[in-house]
Amino acid sequence: MASKPTPKPWIAGIHAYVPGKSGGDGMPTVKLSANENPLGCSPQALDARASAVHPSRYPDGDSTALRAALGKLHGIDPARIIMGAGSGELLYLAASAYAGPGDEVLFSEFAFSLYDIVARRAGAVPVEAPARDYGTDVDALLAAVTERTRVVLVANPNNPTGTYLPKSEIARLHAGLPADVLLVIDLAYVEYVDPADDDGSMALAATAPNVLATRTFSKAYGLAGERVGWGTGSTELIEVLNRLRGAFNVSNEAQAMALAALEDQAFVEQSRGHNAAVRARFVEQVEALGNHGLRTVPSEANFVLVLFEGKLTGRAAYDGLASAGYMTRWFSVPGLDRGVRITIGTQDDMDAVARILRELAETA
Ligand SMILES: Cc1ncc(COP(=O)(O)O)c(C=O)c1O
Repeated sequence: MASKPTPKPWIAGIHAYVPGKSGGDGMPTVKLSANENPLGCSPQALDARASAVHPSRYPDGDSTALRAALGKLHGIDPARIIMGAGSGELLYLAASAYAGPGDEVLFSEFAFSLYDIVARRAGAVPVEAPARDYGTDVDALLAAVTERTRVVLVANPNNPTGTYLPKSEIARLHAGLPADVLLVIDLAYVEYVDPADDDGSMALAATAPNVLATRTFSKAYGLAGERVGWGTGSTELIEVLNRLRGAFNVSNEAQAMALAALEDQAFVEQSRGHNAAVRARFVEQVEALGNHGLRTVPSEANFVLVLFEGKLTGRAAYDGLASAGYMTRWFSVPGLDRGVRITIGTQDDMDAVARILRELAETA
């Protein structure tokens, strides 16, 4: 008999999720490391916080009003909607429901770092298919499918690269997967995408029995701290996930704020417009440093992966920005380590970041 409780062997392989850092050594820092909304959130959401159900009361475990409002806005039967404590919770649930020891959970190289944890937590084997130009390569994903593949995770737009698969590629991926493989399309950043460029995931989730689309209030709605996400798929799929989720997984305050935020679509549009404009200018400023080996990966999200292929390295750029008070994100992953992921902040912040990058590149 062991002298103490032993965690399941697959837990040992998990590296706890590393969130974007908030600050440097006590100096005031602009946080551009966690893809948060620089505009905050809807003022209506802030107002709703005060009138949320009293904290002494358990929340509505089914988030009924919120699911009804989401259903109305997106034209979905609320029975096909599940709420999560952030969309991250739903990714865990999906992997745990459909994959276990001996199974494979497949995703792309340079995908969201949580996917590896999600797979391992289910006891399954995480499998990475090579990326192409830092983006998801549908052919590589399909080629990596085996008899043991149970779940495929794709973020569109992808984090940390910002790359985006068009509708035709999402359709091709779905068509190429066996019917018994669950395709999870993680739409955490979809509100930042021009609605004209819809990737068809929501329509697929409405019709295909093996597709779950997940979304969040953490990004364009600006409610990252409230932990509200949602998913939609077939009623059967949603029922399965409901059996696994926390009974009261979305707090009173979170439900009230998300409901009010949903009613303020003008704020979401403002966030999308602001992001697109500031991102375009920032990309232009970085691309102008091409002679120093800097370039950007095309992004549809609220962040840009800047690549450093000249004298200035990704790590040095990250350190230089941090010493100047701008916290960004650097990943010590081969291939990704030449990049720095920078959240799109205010115009002033991004102009400052571009200026610092220029100075760093010119003096490297
Ligand atoms: C691609 C992607 N999916 C999901 C999430 C999880 O977000 P949340 O749990 O806050 O909804 C994130 C957060 O950074 C993300 O980048």
